[in-house]
Amino acid sequence: MTRKQRHAPLEMSGEEFRRLGYQLVDRIAGFLDSLPSRPVTTGETPEEIRAHLGEGPLPDAGAPADALLTEATDLLFGHSLFNGHPRFMGYITSSAAPIGALADLLAAAVNPNSGGWNLSPMSSEIEAQTVRWLADLVGFPAESGLLVSGGNMANFIGFLAARRAGSPEDPGAAGRQLVYASRETHTWVQKAADLFGVGSEAIRWVKTDEAQRLRTDLLDEMITADRKAGHLPLMVIGTAGTVATGAIDPLPEIASICKRHDIWFHVDGAYGALAAALPEAPSDLKGLAAADSLALDPHKWLYAPLEAGCTLVRKRQHLLDAFAYRPSYYNFDADVAEPPTNYYELGLQNSRGFRALKVWLGLRRAGRQGIIQMIRDDMEMARYLAKLVQEHEELAAHDQHLSITTFRFEPAGLDLEPAATEKYLNELNSEILNRLQAGGEAYISNAVIDDQFLLRACVVNFRTDREDMEALVEIVVRYGRELDAKMRPGSEGS
Ligand SMILES: Cc1ncc(COP(=O)(O)O)c(C=O)c1O
Repeated sequence: MTRKQRHAPLEMSGEEFRRLGYQLVDRIAGFLDSLPSRPVTTGETPEEIRAHLGEGPLPDAGAPADALLTEATDLLFGHSLFNGHPRFMGYITSSAAPIGALADLLAAAVNPNSGGWNLSPMSSEIEAQTVRWLADLVGFPAESGLLVSGGNMANFIGFLAARRAGSPEDPGAAGRQLVYASRETHTWVQKAADLFGVGSEAIRWVKTDEAQRLRTDLLDEMITADRKAGHLPLMVIGTAGTVATGAIDPLPEIASICKRHDIWFHVDGAYGALAAALPEAPSDLKGLAAADSLALDPHKWLYAPLEAGCTLVRKRQHLLDAFAYRPSYYNFDADVAEPPTNYYELGLQNSRGFRALKVWLGLRRAGRQGIIQMIRDDMEMARYLAKLVQEHEELAAHDQHLSITTFRFEPAGLDLEPAATEKYLNELNSEILNRLQAGGEAYISNAVIDDQFLLRACVVNFRTDREDMEALVEIVVRYGRELDAKMRPGSEGS
């Protein structure tokens, strides 16, 4: 029998893979070691980035893999923003654990389709174990859950489970389905409401208190009034760590309101849920244990490389009710006492990659205590920054929750009306941020609270240390002074 007559351009011998792989791993190792001495970003414009890439058409013929990998590595190492840099503290994007990069390589090499158990026996079981461990880590009594691409998707799954559980048998007989969330809720909620049939007008925005936490007194009143008016309150969303300032909604109080009114309680813990692993976590955060569904993001505070989100649900049946179909073209039924999980029945995706591996290996590499230590250290760094800000006379501290610190540059001697002062400080701090984000020395982002434009550092980065916080203060003040000299109303440059 003759075999292997076929030539496939994408095939690669073991020998070639080994040679290319060693070269690539060598370069990645050098890159990781060099991170602190690189700029966080080159700050290049889109035109400049496109010029590096070139605009040629799809090549007709293939090219040698070693040249291509060298080129791709040069492009990425030379022209990326590095969220693994110790001075990256923007948005909520973490440094990625190097073991996660190795895990992704291994996962891609085996390439299990984690949609059906038969197609992915070991990877499906690793995912099930990962889900159990995540639930245990944050103290959520989950019967089930699954890994998804990130926070938006994890929240969508909770939303869909709630909608299915709360939908009446006869939709025509029902009033309007309503969703309750605070104004500080991440924009996933508008997308979910639009995508999943209730419409964004179905969101009842609940006001927040002065610490950006959902006001439960108003929530209770709103639900009661809506019920009286014949509407169908569907779910309440509590946030465990808001995207802007890291505020934690009063989850235990929300839980008891939901219980009293018999409404689904979903917690968006995309950012903050993992901090519930700390024994000293506040009871408001630990209150996530009372939710019906919980979203959390291993690609945020568990340092998994993008992408990895997770939905946990109290009752497995709720996911099956929302997502399970048994098409004739699948032969996935197992005749065993404890049928294994086919993940396509628990969520939106059908074919699924093996994103559990990087999470599972990260959890095992650090262990519970290692995870707790890294999260605790991140929070400690953010508090240290708040202290430095408080001590500096040209900086004003605002909020400090979890690992987020907000503040702004306020130069001395401003002689303007209050409204003009606020307007000028907003412009000045916005310009500081623009300069800082393009400069490459450090990277933070912003929050707008009560119409004030604030600088915002979020530490989900196990490489960030005290000296990086000290450097950040120096950079902000340096930019602030330079820009103030030019921009201050009445100055030469203004
Ligand atoms: C509270 C919260 N929810 C949801 C998200 C969306 O997560 P992702 O960007 O992973 O989709 C974020 C992102 O920062 C977030 O902070």
